[in-house]
Amino acid sequence: MALSNESFPGDIKLTPSQEEEEEGSKNEIPGQTKTSTARVLSQEELDRLGGERALVSGFKQMKLEKEAQKNWDLFYKRNTTNFFKDRHWTTREFEDLKACREFESQRLVLLEAGCGVGNCIFPLLEDDLNIFVYACDFSPRAVEFVKQNPLYCPERCCAFQCDLTQDDLTANVPEGSVDVVTLIFVLSAVHPDKMKLALQNISRVLKPGGIVLFRDYGLYDHAMLRFKAGSKLGENFYVRQDGTRSYFFSKEFLVELFEEAGFQCVANDYVLRETVNKKEGLCVPRVFLQSKFTKPGQSESS
Ligand SMILES: C[S@@+](CC[C@H](N)C(=O)[O-])C[C@H]1O[C@@H](n2cnc3c(N)ncnc32)[C@H](O)[C@@H]1O
Repeated sequence: MALSNESFPGDIKLTPSQEEEEEGSKNEIPGQTKTSTARVLSQEELDRLGGERALVSGFKQMKLEKEAQKNWDLFYKRNTTNFFKDRHWTTREFEDLKACREFESQRLVLLEAGCGVGNCIFPLLEDDLNIFVYACDFSPRAVEFVKQNPLYCPERCCAFQCDLTQDDLTANVPEGSVDVVTLIFVLSAVHPDKMKLALQNISRVLKPGGIVLFRDYGLYDHAMLRFKAGSKLGENFYVRQDGTRSYFFSKEFLVELFEEAGFQCVANDYVLRETVNKKEGLCVPRVFLQSKFTKPGQSESS
């Protein structure tokens, strides 16, 4: 039975207007602030967060982990390609993507890990002709949507299904061949205990000196404070009503994680912006973490 039809006590039900608040939605107010310090919560927000101590039972947590792939696949069955907005900011905000060429005519090789239906890669492919993109996701449906996109062509992209935490990426991507890996709102969907495995897997296909561009939910994002009782899986880790999970990253947690997997930190900042929830007439604070890590070159690592 589909997990989304089962009721976990206290599950939150996302209304369409709340779903629109997701990153990249049309309700975002232009303008954002980069900051090195975490968002400061009001007393009311602190109380709300601190009041939630009970965790989802171990049995349900195991079930969620076992069914993670199924739950994302069902997400794409329900939403097809309509949920996430194309992420045009990839080139706007990740200037590095273009700057990381050693010479102008270099064909950049990119891996979009956890590509969903391709909202990140297709704007990039449209924008930059001299790029080859590997794109993987563990939802077979999402990968199929990527392949059906009119902009998909085998000369410029290769999409494949894989679980980043257990399927060796080198089965589809030559070892040490990738210049840039993008991890956009993906690691948050992975169980914290398995995040390091995903990063080690990514590291194998990245060139020495290659970079990982990361953007994901930051600590105290509005979405984190919105979870109701019964949705908490662990510290900063929650389950949505449809069974998909979300971790909210602090800068410190992320750096430690990447360093343990052998990367070096180049940039790591919270991005603060506001989103309007028109129905509720509210302006809500969004917090994302935008970071850049590098795989040390041979001389640097020894
Ligand atoms: C929030 S979506 C982001 C999609 C895309 N990066 C974007 O920015 O539009 C998270 C994606 O991560 C994928 N995902 C979650 N866990 C994964 C895993 N262990 N291996 C591969 N993909 C995973 C999900 O299937 C989902 O498509």
